[in-house]
Amino acid sequence: MKLWEKSKGALQDVTDFTTGTDREWDLHLAQFDVLGSMAHIRMLETIGLLTSAELKTLTGELKKIHGAIMNGTFSIDQGVEDVHSQVEMMLTKTLGDVGKKIHSGRSRNDQVLVDIRLFIRDEIQSLAGSIRALFDLLIAKSEEHKNQLLPGYTHLQLAMPSSFGLWFAAYAESLVDDVITLQAAYRVTNKNPLGSGAGYGSSFPLNRTMTTELLGFEDLNYNVVYAQMGRGKTERIVAAALGNVAATLSKLSMDVCLYMNPNFGFISFPDELTTGSSIMPHKKNPDVFELIRGKCNGIQSVANEINLLTANLPSGYHRDLQLLKETLFPAFRTLSDCLRMTVLMLSKAKVNERILDDPKYQYLFSVEEVNKLVQTGVPFRDAYKKVGLDIEQGKFAPSGKANYTHEGSIGNLCNDKIKQLMHTHQDSFNFQKAQQALSRLLN
Ligand code: ARG
Repeated sequence: MKLWEKSKGALQDVTDFTTGTDREWDLHLAQFDVLGSMAHIRMLETIGLLTSAELKTLTGELKKIHGAIMNGTFSIDQGVEDVHSQVEMMLTKTLGDVGKKIHSGRSRNDQVLVDIRLFIRDEIQSLAGSIRALFDLLIAKSEEHKNQLLPGYTHLQLAMPSSFGLWFAAYAESLVDDVITLQAAYRVTNKNPLGSGAGYGSSFPLNRTMTTELLGFEDLNYNVVYAQMGRGKTERIVAAALGNVAATLSKLSMDVCLYMNPNFGFISFPDELTTGSSIMPHKKNPDVFELIRGKCNGIQSVANEINLLTANLPSGYHRDLQLLKETLFPAFRTLSDCLRMTVLMLSKAKVNERILDDPKYQYLFSVEEVNKLVQTGVPFRDAYKKVGLDIEQGKFAPSGKANYTHEGSIGNLCNDKIKQLMHTHQDSFNFQKAQQALSRLLN
């Protein structure tokens, strides 16, 4: 039985096709659906659409359903379309007519909007924690290996000296900028769409400011048409932010795959973190990083998928929007798995010492030699030419020392500044506000 069925049911094929994978993805929304309902009914009571006794009964039952969701005993029954229907049906089954009152002044359209906002808010909070763990590890590794030099490449050809200090912290600083875009996505997400109903509001005098506060949103989507237009737009912005983190991990993984190749031989991993070949007994393959690279490249396509899925949809609700769940939701899990595995792998990475002692890397120091001459008063272009000729004539004999002091270079990594930036951006999410509001609702 569906919420909207009057006298005639839909063909089973139509029901199955339109429900699609919704019952599976809606389970991720269940706890938030209940919280949204708890805020909605508290507001309904203040505008006279529920008595305080009804509010109490409904709240008590919703808390029980929330408990079942949190301990894993909640499910969406066979034949029930979605989580919104399931919760309303459970209420009606247990409480009778009062359960049927809960949907006054809302539609599943704004219900699913608010559920998704709360879900994304929660996912971004845990993602921020995982990013922070990787960031801290990268900075620690950078400090630990700051004196270990590494070839730097341009065009994948030998260029200038780099270091593990630079390399690890480069990815840490990349995560700082990824967090900035994640924060922008969080701010777009953290606005209340509840009360927009089917997309055109309600003739009940809903108090949208009240539900905004109860759910701990920073503000509301004021215009009800825009609130509905936010479906798809929010997901796209969030997907783009996930894509930025994913791009950082892909690039890091590609570097690691190169660096652990024996022709480079900069990094190695204990046997238990690499994989072998079924035919070549000597193999130690970087499968974990290859999969992180592939999965993270896949995550970068999600924003584009959402673009295509929602391209040219006019304003207002369309069932196409349901498909956004199966497009976006898995990306959170995939990205968090990739972050966790990157931490596991890098924490065990063995960094090779004295890589640049190998004479094949001597040309990395060509600019050093030019700069030394410049410091004695030789014009740069003349010094460049002299070193170039020395190289051509086989007379190049560098000291093998790199002397860098400016901000962000081998000798002055500025990791404290990078750490400071990460702390500042992480703190300004203000996750506590959202969390406190939701625990107040439940208590
Ligand atoms: N499962 C639906 C979705 O995700 C819920 C909203 C249904 N609204 C409707 N008008 N059919 O979009």
